[in-house]
Amino acid sequence: MEVIHTVEWMKQVARQARADGRLTGLVPTMGALHAGHISLIEAARRDASPAIVSIFVNPKQFGPSEDYTKYPRDLEADRQKLEEAGVDFLFAPSVEEMYPTGFRTSVNVEGLADRLEGKIRPGHFRGVATVVLRLLEIVAPRFAYFGRKDAQQARIIRQMATDLALESEIVVCPIVREPDGVALSSRNRYLSPEERKAATVLYRALSRARRTIEEGEREAMRILALVRQELAEEPLASADYAEIIDADSFEPIMRLTRSCLVLLAARFGSTRLIDNMQVEIADSRGGTPSGVICNL
Ligand code: PAF
Repeated sequence: MEVIHTVEWMKQVARQARADGRLTGLVPTMGALHAGHISLIEAARRDASPAIVSIFVNPKQFGPSEDYTKYPRDLEADRQKLEEAGVDFLFAPSVEEMYPTGFRTSVNVEGLADRLEGKIRPGHFRGVATVVLRLLEIVAPRFAYFGRKDAQQARIIRQMATDLALESEIVVCPIVREPDGVALSSRNRYLSPEERKAATVLYRALSRARRTIEEGEREAMRILALVRQELAEEPLASADYAEIIDADSFEPIMRLTRSCLVLLAARFGSTRLIDNMQVEIADSRGGTPSGVICNL
């Protein structure tokens, strides 16, 4: 695996791969790699060659009170994991490479970026969209891979790709969970053993929503009442939000009719975790239990 630190060299390598008729796959990350990232890399290696992973802790997506300086960085450990995963190129630019002096552009995806995570973390999605566009412009991959755990991020990136007619196809991959249901996240390492145990409440709450929906409940208020009750039963969890939204508009919905998402965010001590479940309802007239698919 070749490690690339400069924008110019990354562009050159990617340009050559395209000229050779190869389909490149990019997995953008901020490092602190775990099995969730590896699943994105496996998807990239199935579809594309060369497989390129970027590691860049993007200062623009952290708020002033967030953990930019404390964000876990261990390039050598990550490099080894990528080597084992069969990645062809690691792009690890410095902040100065990504945002040279005088850099002024930012990308805002109107309407989708100021709700839910965007409301709690103002400016976060502007930072995400800006860095992802910059990475897509540098690498110009045929495919770019993102995890469904960050459902709002994935939706915003898809919208940006559509609006700007980007050549890259945005591929959103399933959530990877620990055996006890906790979704993999770089932030899990901040949890104390007690908080880690408490974090299973997110999966329990989503599973309760799934059972209720599969039993035929379609009223969002009733489903959310059960989800909030489940969250309230865990003393170490402090819920930020529990919402059921339309998967396309990201607006709250009253009644489950087609494709929607149950989204949760909660704090465990100073660590904030998010999780979600995607629900597809085939029968728009109210549905039968067999017409429901809950991807948890
Ligand atoms: O999901 C992440 O790790 C980051 O938000 C991303 C997409 C790499 C942009 O910095």
